[in-house]
Amino acid sequence: MALKELKIGFIGGGQMAEALIRGLLKARVVEPAKILVSEPSPPRREYLAKTFPDLKIIFDNCALVKEVDFIVLAVKPQVMSTVLKEITLAIDPERHLVLSIAAGIPTSFIERFLPEKTRVIRVMPNTPALVLEGVSAFTGGRYTTPEDLGLAEEFLQAFGESIFLPENQFDAVTGLSGSGPAFVAAFYEALVDGGVKVGLAREVAEKLALQTIFGTAKLIKETGKDPYQLKAMVTSPGGTTICGLKALAEKGFSGSVMEAVEAATKRSQELTARVLEEVAK
Ligand SMILES: NC(=O)c1ccc[n+]([C@@H]2O[C@H](COP(=O)([O-])OP(=O)(O)OC[C@H]3O[C@@H](n4cnc5c(N)ncnc54)[C@H](OP(=O)(O)O)[C@@H]3O)[C@@H](O)[C@H]2O)c1
Repeated sequence: MALKELKIGFIGGGQMAEALIRGLLKARVVEPAKILVSEPSPPRREYLAKTFPDLKIIFDNCALVKEVDFIVLAVKPQVMSTVLKEITLAIDPERHLVLSIAAGIPTSFIERFLPEKTRVIRVMPNTPALVLEGVSAFTGGRYTTPEDLGLAEEFLQAFGESIFLPENQFDAVTGLSGSGPAFVAAFYEALVDGGVKVGLAREVAEKLALQTIFGTAKLIKETGKDPYQLKAMVTSPGGTTICGLKALAEKGFSGSVMEAVEAATKRSQELTARVLEEVAK
């Protein structure tokens, strides 16, 4: 079965849901009339109805569940249990596939609230999904089938790249690609400040720094060159770049970045452990 044959329902019509809907419509993986959104906030519903006139925007989560086959849980983690308790009676495990994008909420937490045998997929997207350049890890729960995973992959590829991983790697994913946009933003800011320090106007430094990051990412992606080859392309003997790289090495740049990923991963592990304790109670 392909995604276009299913009705898709978003529970929660916030920033992430909006990005995902844009991706689905742009990639034409599903017709707009087959997408529903349930959202409690009237101004937000009004905005969504204006932005996506062909979608059905409602306020009732259970009514949405009864109409769709593929459910996307796009609410904040702190309201997840409330939403699951509310929809559980409307869930048909034979019909519904439930995909959650909530950070730090394990599949076991979702399964605990839903009827036995409900097929659950967990996804960890990242903010570049807002411009359809995200990368999402996804994993299945106790009852997901290979066909469910195929549907999830089709769904995720509408707004970037996707990778299937076992759930025990999700904290590491959170530390790398989940938090990564903030680390890259911090690097961007530092490059700009460096440019200003050596006498460039801030707008000029911003333009140069941003396109350097974007262009280098594209170069890596399109040529498949590794970091060593890329450095060799710009590092001439006794030249400017090798002096800059020496300064980065002396200030512990690589170690700092590695520690940032590790610290974010550890924090995610702590938060996940707290949720799992709740599940065990
Ligand atoms: N943004 C990211 O970069 C990112 C990255 C990875 C994962 N995620 C995950 O994506 C999920 C959504 O994040 P977001 O940034 O899109 O948050 P958001 O903009 O706050 O969207 C959540 C939406 O859910 C609505 N909502 C609240 N209670 C609800 C209920 N009982 N039933 C239905 N809808 C309800 C909220 O309405 P009100 O505003 O009226 O409360 C809001 O419109 C989160 O679980 C987050 O962990 C986000």
